[in-house]
Amino acid sequence: MKKLIGPFKQILTLAGLALKGALKDDDMQIIPYGGVLVENGLIIAVDDFERLRKANSSAQIEEIEGDHVLLPGFVDCHTHICFAGSRAKDYAMRIQGKSYLDIAKAGGGIWDSVTQTRAADEALLTELLLQRVNRHLSEGVTTIEVKSGYGLETHSELKQLRVIAEASTQTKASLVPTCLAAHMVPKDFSGNQTEYLSYVFHDLLHVIKHDNLSNRIDIFIEESAFNPDTAAVYLNRAKLMGFDITIHADQFTTGGSAVAVKLGAVSADHLEASKDAEIKLLANSDTIAVVLPGASLGLGMQYAPARKLLDAGACLAIASDWNPGSAPMGDLLTQAAILSAAEKLNTAETFAGLTYRAAKALKFDDRGILAPGMRADMQAYNCNDYREILYQQGKMKPIKVWGSNK
Ligand code: NIG
Ligand code: FE
Repeated sequence: MKKLIGPFKQILTLAGLALKGALKDDDMQIIPYGGVLVENGLIIAVDDFERLRKANSSAQIEEIEGDHVLLPGFVDCHTHICFAGSRAKDYAMRIQGKSYLDIAKAGGGIWDSVTQTRAADEALLTELLLQRVNRHLSEGVTTIEVKSGYGLETHSELKQLRVIAEASTQTKASLVPTCLAAHMVPKDFSGNQTEYLSYVFHDLLHVIKHDNLSNRIDIFIEESAFNPDTAAVYLNRAKLMGFDITIHADQFTTGGSAVAVKLGAVSADHLEASKDAEIKLLANSDTIAVVLPGASLGLGMQYAPARKLLDAGACLAIASDWNPGSAPMGDLLTQAAILSAAEKLNTAETFAGLTYRAAKALKFDDRGILAPGMRADMQAYNCNDYREILYQQGKMKPIKVWGSNK
């Protein structure tokens, strides 16, 4: 059954914009008094509402009363929202000025979330994940990547990935699982980085492939986690098995983004420490540059050089990094709005980074733009001008969200 949704004061389709580089607001397609014709979760047409109504007299109408702006649903291509417990204690120490080392010594850091996530059963973890997923969905995020990485041994990593699969059957949001068993060498593993990655490769990756739990592999390349050379060996082996690669790169020190570009990773994420050389490498590659303003806000550190990345020609996506440690806020629109003010990203660049460019970081061509053939993942804001949305810096949330999962 076809459904016609509208009329909307403005539909911002984001169609026809470049995949890479800087954009201009004037290039955004805006359909005034528009409607969207939808069937089986897919968009059939986006056009003037009255024209669509006349041409589709048998379609069911979902009438939108008042002035609204319609956007594609946001794609959050980097989260860690499958976890148990809270790290409020870490945050309190951080804002007291305590160092990463002090926090780790007091029992905080990633290891604390690992301990709590290992202890949680699948039912509890599914409930906690769904609460976060559905909050994100209500805030306009219709596709959400979710990483494992708080298990750090075979059984618990698989538990996290199974929980993500189960949660995706219970929500209108589309979930994309990624294996981040290479988040850090767990404290209870008696071996070095190479040995841990070899264990992950032999004990875990084959099961993930066999059980079809994920086709994406992430690794944290950083002085406190894995070095670039060791990481490259693991990533190459995973690549040969058919996994797509994404990398936590250049968060505190450089090294990760060069590995990402060299190995053809789909994305390099963080980039707060990237300098001109890394920016150039990313801009001249097909690797999506994913910036995570929520981590900068959570850690009180500088933003990634988003403006420079765009000006150099990179494909820039903006994600939340929602996690219990460095990015507890999880409000993607607020974070993107704050980043846009700090880095001088215009509306087109900011919305592109939250939609079709972020979709590319997950290798999706079927979302992030409102056009025929695309998924009907959409969100409506109660305002009469699209510029109100970033102007309100995330305070205004969508009044209605359409997610087409299931
Ligand atoms: O993306 N950088 C590494 N991992 C996460 C932090 C995870 C945590 O602190 O629990 C990040 O910021
Ligand atoms: Fe992260």
